[in-house]
Amino acid sequence: MLERYGHGGDLRTASEVFGRSTESFDDFSSNMNPLGPPPSIRNVLAGYLEHIHAYPDPASRALKKTLADRHGIPENAILVGNGAAESIDLAVRAIKPGVTALAMPCFDEYGDAVRKLGGEIYPIPLDAAKEFELGEAEIDAAIERSGADLYMLGSPNNPTGRLVDSGLIYRLLDSGAHVVLDEAFLDFVPDEGKVTLVQAAARHERFIVIRSMTKFYSVPGIRLGYAVGKPSTISRLRKLQVPWSVNSLAQQIGEAALMDAEFEARSRQWLVTERQWLTDELRRLDMQVTPSEANYLLLRLPESSRLSASQLQLEMGRRGVLIRDASRFQGLDHRYIRVAIKLREQNERLLRALSECLVAAEDGSGDSA
Ligand SMILES: Cc1ncc(COP(=O)(O)O)c(C=O)c1O
Repeated sequence: MLERYGHGGDLRTASEVFGRSTESFDDFSSNMNPLGPPPSIRNVLAGYLEHIHAYPDPASRALKKTLADRHGIPENAILVGNGAAESIDLAVRAIKPGVTALAMPCFDEYGDAVRKLGGEIYPIPLDAAKEFELGEAEIDAAIERSGADLYMLGSPNNPTGRLVDSGLIYRLLDSGAHVVLDEAFLDFVPDEGKVTLVQAAARHERFIVIRSMTKFYSVPGIRLGYAVGKPSTISRLRKLQVPWSVNSLAQQIGEAALMDAEFEARSRQWLVTERQWLTDELRRLDMQVTPSEANYLLLRLPESSRLSASQLQLEMGRRGVLIRDASRFQGLDHRYIRVAIKLREQNERLLRALSECLVAAEDGSGDSA
């Protein structure tokens, strides 16, 4: 109901549906870092008026240099884009896959980008009984049966929060397929520098890694992300990109954000503690919580509850709390929701509203029963 345009975080739609102002919601339906944006970007905003008259650097050179130094890869292995969303689209257009294998459930944009080009999707079902972990058995079966020339995987995956083992990626590359790995949420992982596969992507012919800067730095409004691949691959993507796709404010904000080491450390520390706390509290409400490496949790409603995810979304929205109806992800049934992890006070409001809705449904006293 709230995913009219296919995503969470649509406050305008929520405002229309619930008749409340956009500012009045606690939004757990989009996964932004609640500690952000980093204070380092304030100066950029204050001084930006001076730069607005000029075109942005068409190659985002300063930001690319900062990213290259950070990841230990050459600058020409990076393409800065208008959000990770643009890189997903460009990668698929450059590869032109016949069949694309997707581990389901996953971020909708992978399938949308493929379908837009008339490509076919081969679903690799992730097993709820294995807490949605992608394993060798699923990968080997897909290599044998799918005929896929592209595998698109999220690590951490959205909506499950699970990481993909690097061994599986190399197995796929060895099979001769292309791999696009979406690391949009990897900044939240404490040893991100060891887990990321950007260096491998910078060397490998058929491997692209996609990163987002909007989630960790909490700047989705400016649209900023990047793709990493072999320079020859990146040059193919660049040829498909609209000129000046990344505006100068986004470029400057990106650079300032990457300099803020204190924000980075604080965010990672906060998440480890808060995720455990929220997981424990949700389990106390009999929610089934999928173990997550990201800043969001995939939940299944208690067996005893009569509510569906869409009914719960409606009841929560009426209470000013927005959650994602995850039953809309292919591979999940009508009892899954996804919630972002936010600051303690907001998380407490989420828990209170969830508890009220579950009790009301049990009593038959709420509209939801
Ligand atoms: C897994 C995943 N990848 C990519 C994106 C797109 O990110 P961006 O805002 O950088 O375009 C999203 C946005 O929700 C996402 O969930």
